[in-house]
Amino acid sequence: MIRLNEHWTTLLNSLDLDPYGQVKDKRIENWKKIISNLPLINTTKVDLLNGITVQGKWDSKDKQRTEEDLMQLVPWRKGPFMIQDIFIDAEWQSNMKWERVLDLNIELKGKNILDVGSGNGYYGFRMLGKGAEFVVCLEPNVSHLTQFLVLNHFINSDRIKMVPRRIEEISFLDKCFDLVFSMGVLYHQRNPESHLNLLASHLKEGGQIILETLIVPDEYGQALIPKSSYANMSNVWFIHSRKGLEGLINKSGLKILKMGSSVKTMPEEQRATKWMPFRSLVDGLSQGLDRTVEGLPSPDRVVLVLTKL
Ligand SMILES: C[S@@+](CC[C@H](N)C(=O)[O-])C[C@H]1O[C@@H](n2cnc3c(N)ncnc32)[C@H](O)[C@@H]1O
Repeated sequence: MIRLNEHWTTLLNSLDLDPYGQVKDKRIENWKKIISNLPLINTTKVDLLNGITVQGKWDSKDKQRTEEDLMQLVPWRKGPFMIQDIFIDAEWQSNMKWERVLDLNIELKGKNILDVGSGNGYYGFRMLGKGAEFVVCLEPNVSHLTQFLVLNHFINSDRIKMVPRRIEEISFLDKCFDLVFSMGVLYHQRNPESHLNLLASHLKEGGQIILETLIVPDEYGQALIPKSSYANMSNVWFIHSRKGLEGLINKSGLKILKMGSSVKTMPEEQRATKWMPFRSLVDGLSQGLDRTVEGLPSPDRVVLVLTKL
């Protein structure tokens, strides 16, 4: 089923033996137990187009046990997912971002896709719902990988794989993908130009990069550089303005094909729930949601489609 080149096929096949690869983390043993004890659902329907829903038959004992196991994997950041009658109401209503991506009329059918910083694979599954041929998710956070493995136990697709690595840890730069996604990742990079260069180096000729990121008004110059944290997040290094993004994209040998309008993140889209019971957006905001607790502009996000110059 995999239609990538030898480097990718070898890497993905190696993860079939152990999906955590070389990663060392003391939680992995317990996660493997959870995954191997998941019940089999007699699946009757999987819908990845209108949301992420798995329907099938299982008995009430299995339901209770599975819900307890899924709860052990808190926090669920991206979602929602409906697994039989268990509704995983994640922190993010990720369907809202997905709709903003789809508004840019990106053709996903038949495409090989690399999703860099994929989280638990929510968007990767939605890409399959739109007819993508094959999706490789790159995600170094192994708690997200664990959620992905649990989800794919029920969804059961062999057209999506997750690799527990950062993009800079992939040693081969083969131009294998029609589309490369980087959503919510750029502002977490200490070197955003090198991130864009890496995304481009995995792109086939004529391919497109879908970049989703935070944006600030042009009055901040090229980029806002938070002094300490941004909305309580300590790992935000640069938030570019439109001008700054254009410069960065150009320096990386790319050009903008399309750009959506910027949209403020509101508590309807990101909030604490039973499945993510910790601090969320509102805890990082003040002044009627207009400013962050650090006095900076509150999060505004934009989606761009890029291609090589
Ligand atoms: C804010 S989350 C965004 C998740 C998802 N793409 C979305 O838009 O909702 C950023 C994710 O990118 C991952 N990440 C950060 N830097 C990365 C890198 N250099 N390569 C691959 N993944 C990275 C993080 O582990 C995290 O899960």
